[in-house]
Amino acid sequence: MSIKSESENKSESVKTDTEIVIIKNGPLQIKGSLSIKHKDGKEETQKEVYLCRCGQSENKPFCDGTHKKCGFKDE
Ligand code: FES
Repeated sequence: MSIKSESENKSESVKTDTEIVIIKNGPLQIKGSLSIKHKDGKEETQKEVYLCRCGQSENKPFCDGTHKKCGFKDE
């Protein structure tokens, strides 16, 4: 992964185990050592989460599978 700072105009390589996969007509799959901080302050760790892209999930920001029922297309 490469991160570019606009203020310094230089690129920096960052080693990370986090991977984001855009699933066709579905959610974003996030993989890695993930720390999730909920709005109530609760924290948990996960190795994989799916984030909604269709906007129809009843469990935002997480995918609940509704994208299949609503026929979400990303193209
Ligand atoms: S992407 Fe799965 S519910 Fe929105």
